[in-house]
Order: sequence, then structure tokens, then C-alpha cells
Amino acid sequence: MGASAEMRGGALAPLTVVPQHVAIIMDGNGRWARERGLPRLEGHRAGTANIRRTVEACAEFGIKVLTLYAFSTENWKRPPAEVRGLFALLGEVIDRETEELHRNGAQIRHLGSLADIPESLAARVRHAVEYTRGNSRLVVNVAFNYGGRAEIVHAVQRVIEAGIPADQVTEELLASHLYTASLPDPDLVIRTAGEMRLSNFLLWQAAYAEYWSTPTYWPDFGPEHLHAALYAYGARQRRFGSL
Ligand code: IPE
Ligand code: IPE
Ligand code: MG
Repeated sequence: MGASAEMRGGALAPLTVVPQHVAIIMDGNGRWARERGLPRLEGHRAGTANIRRTVEACAEFGIKVLTLYAFSTENWKRPPAEVRGLFALLGEVIDRETEELHRNGAQIRHLGSLADIPESLAARVRHAVEYTRGNSRLVVNVAFNYGGRAEIVHAVQRVIEAGIPADQVTEELLASHLYTASLPDPDLVIRTAGEMRLSNFLLWQAAYAEYWSTPTYWPDFGPEHLHAALYAYGARQRRFGSL
């Protein structure tokens, strides 16, 4: 994967600690578009164009798991035309990026439900997941039609369906029924566009994640912003409740 000029040139301070798992709330596409007098969907289009360079930068920095929040269970509340536009864009991203991601050793996983998703798009998501299943350089989780509460409810339903007795329900067991089963918890959650909330993202998994927010809108978020987040992460003291 091609390193950006900044990364190759060594202009960025070296990182002493690199998180294993980085999760990004890709927000601000609408505001990016509004400030340019463009329709919201053009902001989403610019946002999708930013996915490849983010994945490449993560691979360069040595991150092993990247989770991208693409569409929440609450985003259905948006006007139908915007929802349709977002789905169409996701289909385009899958068509455009899957082969390149595969060549670069990325394993694509889907976090969320495909139950209410148009079949043509659901089939593309399933294919991308299946096609890249054997890769291990970097895991790219796409949180699409994802909600943290819905995920926990879904996990509890699966535990009950499996007939697991109450006294065998542990944190490890529940975690193994989440969409992120077998993956490490996020170490760092990044949110673009300045909001200071989780918006139903990885509620269980982010219990001890470090949080970093930037006013930069998602389409403008580049490797230098990712580096700033990773650098700030390196200076955090994670205590996990101990002293
Ligand atoms: C994030 O951008 C993309 C999705 C939530 C799908 P927004 O569409 O939320 O952009 P703003 O918050 O309106 O600027
Ligand atoms: C969170 O952004 C969801 C995604 C980035 C996919 P939103 O724009 O939907 O979040 P709120 O509504 O500002 O909390
Ligand atoms: Mg938003």
C-alpha cells in the first residue's frame, strides 16, 4: 500500500505505541457538503472517497483492526432518498474497493444486520466478507445497519436460542455472540466533525476505549489527522480501573 508523502518524509513524529484496534465514527459529510453549497449526498460521496486512504494509512501505521461506522440503526430516520443514496454509495464502494482490499491482505467483516437491506446490496456485502475471509494483514469491520443496543439484544437472543443456562452467561460468553466475536476491543475511538457522543457505536466493546474527537469533517480527515489521534493515544494512561 502506498504511504502518504507525509508518512514517507518522516515529517510526522514517530509513534511509540500503536493501538491494535481503531474505530472511527465517520461524521460530518452533510456539513461538509452544506458548506460547499452541495447536496448532502455529495458529502457522502466525498466521504466514501476517503475510505481507501484511511485503510492504507492504518495498514502503514501497523493497526490490525479498523472499524468504520457507515450506517447506524438510527440513520433509517433520515429521508428515504438519503437512505437510498447511502445504500447506493456503499454498493459502489464494495464494487470499487473489494479487489484492492483483498490484494492488500484485508479481511472485510460486517457488523450489523442485513435483514432489512435490499437484497442486491446484502448479496454484495456477503460476497465481500466471503471473498476476503482468509486474509489477516488487517481486519476492516464495516458497521452498517449497526447499533450497539441492537447488537447486544441480538447476542442475548442467540444465547437464549442456544439454550445456555443463566449461570453460564459470562462477559466472555456474551462477547463471543457479538458481531465482533474473536476480535480485540477497540483501543481508540475517533469521531470526526466535533460531536462528543458515541451515537450507539460499540457500546459493549468500547467500555475502556480511549476517545478522540476532531472538528475536521470526515471527507477532509487525512493520514495527518489519524496520526494526531494515534499520537494523542500514545500519551494516554490507560488504567482499566486499577491504580
Ligand atoms: C456521517 O455524516 C455519515 C452518516 C451518518 C451516514 P452525516 O450525514 O451524519 O453528516 P452531518 O452530521 O449531517 O454533517
Ligand atoms: C453516527 O453519526 C453514525 C455514523 C457515522 C454512521 P450520526 O450523524 O448519525 O450521529 P448523531 O445523529 O449526530 O448522533
Ligand atoms: Mg452526523
